[in-house]
Amino acid sequence: MLESPSEPIGSLYVHVPFCAQKCSYCAFYSEPSSGEVINRYVAALVRELELVAGDLRPRTVFFGGGTPSLLNLRQWEQIFRALERFKLLGAAEWTVECNPATVSLDKAKLLRAHGVNRVSMGVQSLNEALLDRLGRVHTREMAFKSFDVLRQAGFDNLNLDLMFAIPGQTLAVWRETLAEAVAMGSEHLSSYEVIYEEDTALYAQLHAGEFDEDEDLACAMYDELVERAAAAGFQQYEVANFSRGAFRNCRHNVNYWRGGSFYGLGPSATSYVRGVRTRNWSNTGLYCEQLEKGNRALESREELAPLARAGETAAFGLRMVAGWPFEQFQQITGHDLRREWAGDMASLERQGWGRFSGEGFQLTPQGLRFADAAARLFLR
Ligand SMILES: C[S@@+](CC[C@H](N)C(=O)[O-])C[C@H]1O[C@@H](n2cnc3c(N)ncnc32)[C@H](O)[C@@H]1O
Ligand code: SF4
Repeated sequence: MLESPSEPIGSLYVHVPFCAQKCSYCAFYSEPSSGEVINRYVAALVRELELVAGDLRPRTVFFGGGTPSLLNLRQWEQIFRALERFKLLGAAEWTVECNPATVSLDKAKLLRAHGVNRVSMGVQSLNEALLDRLGRVHTREMAFKSFDVLRQAGFDNLNLDLMFAIPGQTLAVWRETLAEAVAMGSEHLSSYEVIYEEDTALYAQLHAGEFDEDEDLACAMYDELVERAAAAGFQQYEVANFSRGAFRNCRHNVNYWRGGSFYGLGPSATSYVRGVRTRNWSNTGLYCEQLEKGNRALESREELAPLARAGETAAFGLRMVAGWPFEQFQQITGHDLRREWAGDMASLERQGWGRFSGEGFQLTPQGLRFADAAARLFLR
């Protein structure tokens, strides 16, 4: 990226690798929680924060997981004190992911009081049978209740995560969940089609022939999502993301999609800093051990060639409804989409998946539905 080496990095992700119970579809790195391991993790995280603090001035912070809301009040307080000590407070947007089973009023108030101003809650479905099928640890009632608790604690910027094309989910059930979720009145909605990730229970069931994928149904569900969200006053700004106005777009994620730098701390987290991608060990014990010795817990380091980097940035940014303004792309990557990717854009346009707007290129609604396939063309 053409980012100044002297400018501190403006984006911080923290991975919290604990879950009360593993969901059947999820491949994010997490393990069952236990008080002792979490204490050791928090101490290691504080060390890691200290190691990078000199190169960080976060405008956006995102605590994801895993289940950050599993940390108790004392553990959160320890993290807040460290952030204050290392002068890392003051981000304009600070999101914490929560599971409806682990939200309490005390915890929500503590987060809000220390500057967390956005909560992303994993709801997935509001159908009891499907929540069960997904191995979720909460009921639909807990989703409604936790939402109210977050409001009561003063959060005015809430996201709900939903999933569609869940095995056994009919279009009628999806419509019900969508209608109920939209009626909750969140400021933001993220909705993902189920991905069958290797090493998950759902993947094993699919490959054991317990159910089939239904591509047409998934398409109908996506269309329903886009229509219902628009009818409820949401604007789609990315394939899976909708907000009530651009000022509610998740700035942290927009930075990813626009190819910006970020530090990712915690086990399994990826950082992307001035063109160099590193990844932490996906093992909490190893992660803690390294940090206890005073080392960053890096498992890998990769410096992409400029063109490969630009290709990845092109692919990510095309997931945004606005697509890529040519000038902006050139400023960020140093490459011109109109030169290197002219043929790919023309073929997407012929297919009806892309269009030129004069100053830029974007995917059409049809192209957004198949954004992953479209984006792959841009990788070099
Ligand atoms: C890391 S989870 C964070 C939320 C929190 N851990 C919870 O589940 O309540 C982020 C979101 O990714 C989505 N997700 C995770 N695995 C997925 C998969 N295999 N396919 C589609 N979406 C997935 C879910 O919607 C989930 O809420
Ligand atoms: S979806 Fe969330 S709660 Fe479920 S296993 Fe993944 S990270 Fe944990």
